[in-house]
Amino acid sequence: MSGVTDLSFRLMCREFGAGHCFFEMLDANALIYNHPGTQRLLATHRKDGPIAAQLLGRDPAVVLEAAERLQSLAEISFLDINCGCPAKKVIKKGAGAYLLKDIGTLCKILKKLTSSLPIPVTVKIRTGFDSRSVAESQNIAKKCEDCGVSKLFIHGRTRSQGYAGDIDYEAIRAVKTVLKIPVFGSGNIFDPISAKRMFDETGCDGILVARGAMGNPWIFRNIDRYLKDGALSPCPTLFEKKTILKKHLSLVQKYKKTRHANKMGFMCKIAMWYLKGLPGATRIRERICSIGTYAKLVGLIDDGT
Ligand SMILES: Cc1cc2nc3c(=O)[nH]c(=O)nc-3n(C[C@H](O)[C@H](O)[C@H](O)COP(=O)(O)O)c2cc1C
Repeated sequence: MSGVTDLSFRLMCREFGAGHCFFEMLDANALIYNHPGTQRLLATHRKDGPIAAQLLGRDPAVVLEAAERLQSLAEISFLDINCGCPAKKVIKKGAGAYLLKDIGTLCKILKKLTSSLPIPVTVKIRTGFDSRSVAESQNIAKKCEDCGVSKLFIHGRTRSQGYAGDIDYEAIRAVKTVLKIPVFGSGNIFDPISAKRMFDETGCDGILVARGAMGNPWIFRNIDRYLKDGALSPCPTLFEKKTILKKHLSLVQKYKKTRHANKMGFMCKIAMWYLKGLPGATRIRERICSIGTYAKLVGLIDDGT
C-alpha cells in the first residue's frame, strides 16, 4: 500500500506472521528517471523477506526497463503490475485501474514482462472499471492468465467503488473458477471472520490483508489461528497496544530517511491507527499531532493516553 507499507510497517507485520510483503508501489517512470525518493522506497533489511514489488505504468518498454532496474536494486520474489489504483491522476495517465478498460495495452505490458524477466510476473486487478459484471471480471482475468502471469490478485470492487461498498465475492469466485493459476482475494479483510469469509465464498487460494493491518499488525496471527483451529484471539489490552505501537514507532525512527517534519507526521498517522476507537481519541489526536519530537511522542503514549 502506497504511503503505508514501508520497512517499519512490514517488519511489524512479519513479526506477527505476515507470509509475504510488498514494497510500496513504484512508478515505472520515476524509477527509470531516478526520481528522488523512489530508491528510498526500496529500503529493506535481512528480516524483510520474502518480498515482492509492484509497478505502476502504461508503456510496455518503460515498464520493462523499470523492472530491470528494480531487479538490480532489490532482490524480489516476483513483480506485480498494478491495475487497481483508482486515483484520478493515475487514471488520467492511462495507468492503474485504467488498464482494466484498455486490455490491449495491459496484455502488451504483461507479455513483454513474462517473456523477458527471469522472475514470476503477477497482476493485481479490480472486478472491473465501473460495471459490476461477473463476465467482465472473468474476461479481464482470463486475458491476464493467457499473457503468462503466475498469480492473480483481485480486489472485489470496481474502480468506481474506490475503497467503499460491498465486496463482490461472486465475481472473485467466478474468476477463480475460470483460471488455472492461483487467485488471491482482497477486500474488507479486517478480522479472522472476514478472512475466512473470503476463502469460503470465493474458493480463492490466498488473501491479501490491506487496511486491516493498519494499527493492527497482530491480525495475521489472529487469522492464522482462526483458520487453523477456529479460535478467536482476545483484543490486545491498552498496555499491549501501546507496547506494539512504540515498537512500530521505534522502527520508523530507526529506518525512515526523510525530513524531520515528514517523519513526525508519519509517526502521528501511525499512532492514530493504533489509538483509533479509544475513549477520547479525538482529544488524543490533537495532542499527538502537535508534538515535535519522537521522545516526547513516546512519553505521551506512556503517560498521557
Ligand atoms: C492507503 C492505501 C494504499 C493502497 N495502495 C495500494 C497499492 O499501492 N497497490 C495496490 O495494489 N493496492 C493498494 N491499495 C489497495 C489494497 O491493496 C486493497 O486491495 C484494498 O484496500 C482492499 O482491501 P481492504 O478493503 O481489505 O483494505 C491501497 C489501499 C489503501 C487504503
